[in-house]
Amino acid sequence: MIRLSLIITTALVLFSCDTAKKSHEMNSPDGTIHTLLEMQGSLPSYTVSIDGEQILRPSNLGFLLEVSPGYSEALNIKQVESTTHKQNWEQVLGEDKQILDHHNYYKFEVSSGSNTFYNLEFKVFNDGVAFRYQFPAWAGVDSLLLKEELTEFNFTADFLSWWIPNEWDSYERIYRTTPISKSPGVNTPVTLRTESGIHLSIHEANLTDYSGMTLVPDDSGSIDWHSALVPWPDGIMVRSSLPHQSPWRTIQLGRSAAELANSHLILNLNEPNRIADVSWIKPMKYMGIWWGMHIKTESWEQGPIHGATTENALRYIDYASSNGFDGLLIEGWNLGWENWGKQDAYSFTETYDDFDIQKVTAYAADHGMEIIGHHETGGDAESYDRRVEAAFQFYKSLGINSVKTGYAGAIFPRGQHHHGQWMVRHYRRIVELAAKYKITLDAHEPIKATGIRRTWPNMMTREGARGNEYEAWSEGNPPEHTTILPFTRMLGGPMDYTPGVFYVTLEGIKENNRIHTTLAKQLALMVILNSPLQMVADLPEHIKNHPALQFARDLNIDWDESEMLAGEVGDYAVTARRVGDMWFLAAISDEERRMLDVKLSFLKEDVQYRAEIYRDGDKASWDRNPHDYFIEEKIVTSTTQLALPLAAGGGIAIRLVPVE
Ligand code: NOJ
Ligand code: CA
Repeated sequence: MIRLSLIITTALVLFSCDTAKKSHEMNSPDGTIHTLLEMQGSLPSYTVSIDGEQILRPSNLGFLLEVSPGYSEALNIKQVESTTHKQNWEQVLGEDKQILDHHNYYKFEVSSGSNTFYNLEFKVFNDGVAFRYQFPAWAGVDSLLLKEELTEFNFTADFLSWWIPNEWDSYERIYRTTPISKSPGVNTPVTLRTESGIHLSIHEANLTDYSGMTLVPDDSGSIDWHSALVPWPDGIMVRSSLPHQSPWRTIQLGRSAAELANSHLILNLNEPNRIADVSWIKPMKYMGIWWGMHIKTESWEQGPIHGATTENALRYIDYASSNGFDGLLIEGWNLGWENWGKQDAYSFTETYDDFDIQKVTAYAADHGMEIIGHHETGGDAESYDRRVEAAFQFYKSLGINSVKTGYAGAIFPRGQHHHGQWMVRHYRRIVELAAKYKITLDAHEPIKATGIRRTWPNMMTREGARGNEYEAWSEGNPPEHTTILPFTRMLGGPMDYTPGVFYVTLEGIKENNRIHTTLAKQLALMVILNSPLQMVADLPEHIKNHPALQFARDLNIDWDESEMLAGEVGDYAVTARRVGDMWFLAAISDEERRMLDVKLSFLKEDVQYRAEIYRDGDKASWDRNPHDYFIEEKIVTSTTQLALPLAAGGGIAIRLVPVE
């Protein structure tokens, strides 16, 4: 049941600090989560437990420096602050407009003799634990050169885990489901489940001017992971002036998979919004001159099947505007696509000569739509840094207010990695520059989502996982893929998965590829996988006059509140989202056919709603009969128990509208 507490005041309570204590106990506001901090040998170490069940055994904290202040005395932990914080804050865009931040905060000084070596900050929420390092200005050391972070996550048993490997340049992998001991190392967020059903995720929040954290086992087969940062070419992990701080290291906890998915811990650990005027930040449903390139009926480069021609763009605008879309993404409009991957390949201000960008943007405006710009860098962030300001000015002069970026290729400068500190800085520079120009962003091949959308709400959405595009040109995404995402990748924030392919078999177009879902599941994904820029990916000729398109037309993605009602990682998910007095409800399944049912108790009492249901047909399955779907209407109320029949690889998408 969704409930929103309205105004909650900030309460700052100062606890007494017993500085002589050897071990420091920390608790969540509701008292169910505990963490203990104490010295173990030469390093501080922490544990985590929930409902009396220990999840993490003593796990070290610390780091190695290239140039250290050289303190010789043993470390000592002193608690210097402890407060309670409870406040509701408003999100500019998002799955929930009102978010409660309720946690206990603890600060510790880790000192050597009379010198502060570093500070440790902990926040314990009702849905998990977070901590970070603060590096002070050390006498005689002019900057931070981090050789290694020693943070450990030592689990109490060989939990089942859902993970992608610890790569430095891509998150676009198929998830593996194995015990911890069978994983060679992971990227975060990684999700785990204990024997008793506790679900947890290890991730980081507010990744700012630091390198991305991967987790690797201490030895092969171990259930102890430690943080392994993505290095600079010279092997240094993080470099900066002092003082500096690490991102928050997070352990999100839920008693069920759905509870984990509903956690707002990552957002709560980010800084408040820095953009004063947010009136220009709006969600958009968009189509694209895009899918054609992936299924090879259109090309990015100029040539006989060039997608971004003036004529084709006008055709798309006609189609998209008459079907209620707000935006049209146009890829392949600018010079350079023949040189993808080479240095300085792309111009971001010169168009191919069969694309009249003035005419196209004016035509879009006349039709009440916006063009979503596209900057593929091929990984050449260095070149993009030099060209991006002129590129934003060019787009703005044409009324383009939203840009998709891309980094598909090895990074220039060579030796830097997508997930390293140099790129973390680059991605952020682009977000801040975009904010200056009132441009909203959708980053592909991005750094992972760690909640900075709270601080920079123009950072609308990003890829950072394997999207629908893989269905067009690889072995595809197994049906369970999208039932893993809501419990893993999506914990970081919105994803531009680009669902909305109606012609899922690709017969006669690409015989060796297909979408691994039913048609109804493609609709459901628009609700399940939240993205303030939400794509409907298929070609106009495939969705034209398609009865199921009505769901996409009616879809309103400016969510006021959301809740996952039920789910199991890798099996299924059921999510409800509200816009005004209307609700959207969707469910998806993995490769299993299943019959779920859901109590509609989230609806307003004593109000009748018309449920417009788009579901799998009785004979549907993703592999044999994916286009079989059925549209029906029912009158329901908050006491209705609604059946959700899901085909193998199927889904259901429902709009619930109050009846006058
Ligand atoms: C990969 C992106 O994920 C995709 O959306 C885009 O079309 C291509 N790169 C080309 O930029
Ligand atoms: Ca991609």
